[in-house]
Amino acid sequence: MKNTKIKRTLLEALTRAGKIIHANFGKEQTITKKGKFNLVTEIDKASEKAVVELILKRFPDHSILAEESPAVTGSSCRWIIDPIDGTTNFAHGFPIVSVSIGFERDGRLEMGGVFDPFRKELFFAERGQGATLNGKRIHVSRAMTLEDSLLATGFPYDRNIKPDDYLAMLRVFLTRIQGIRRGGSAAIDLCYVACGRFDGYYEMKLSPWDKAGGMIIVEEAGGKLTDFSGGPLTLSGLQNLATNGLIHAEMLAALAPFQHLGGSLS
Ligand code: IPD
Ligand code: CA
Ligand code: CA
Repeated sequence: MKNTKIKRTLLEALTRAGKIIHANFGKEQTITKKGKFNLVTEIDKASEKAVVELILKRFPDHSILAEESPAVTGSSCRWIIDPIDGTTNFAHGFPIVSVSIGFERDGRLEMGGVFDPFRKELFFAERGQGATLNGKRIHVSRAMTLEDSLLATGFPYDRNIKPDDYLAMLRVFLTRIQGIRRGGSAAIDLCYVACGRFDGYYEMKLSPWDKAGGMIIVEEAGGKLTDFSGGPLTLSGLQNLATNGLIHAEMLAALAPFQHLGGSLS
């Protein structure tokens, strides 16, 4: 399978979805709820439809894991799609939103792209080829210590049932860093680690579509991905840590009291 055709399709799908998101931003939306705080707008569905239709037109036998529809299985090639990462932001008219697509072959991420239609920033990586932002190579930051770091985090949708662990984690970092941001799009958080705007990012309970695109972008930009014990970060893993590599040990030490955290995604 030619990677050039896959890359072209991935980039085209990101751009098409980005146009739909941008064109509908700020307009009244029909919103449904998957959980107390977990929203879905009609634009999540429209964006996903555009992406999935394009991919299946070019690669009819590929597998698809997309947030808003049942999975399509059976192929060793799988596309992992978040049609709007940052739906809560989108629904409230807060313009930190992205579309994220990861491409996996034989269970290994081979390509990833994340597009922010408001800043017109397209992050992309292909295994072994480095990571780019709008075509220019990007690298993680050089911050050596937490004291010199700007971090990002997010709070999972079960935060209303068990806020204590998430607050305790935040507390550990608050006194030791330059700042922490909660942008509301995990895919953008990962890309900002990749391009050095953030030095590190942690969050519990991301879904595969939140992180598939961004994970390979962080790796190809020279960053490090693990769980809270230093083991490999997987698509199904519940603990997510991404850093510039240099502050990784310090972040792992800070997160050590939370290594036992698990549970389920919803
Ligand atoms: C969410 C965003 C958010 C993160 C949540 C995700 P969604 O994705 O990435 O930043 O904190 O854990 O579920 O629901 O907007 O696609
Ligand atoms: Ca998401
Ligand atoms: Ca989403």
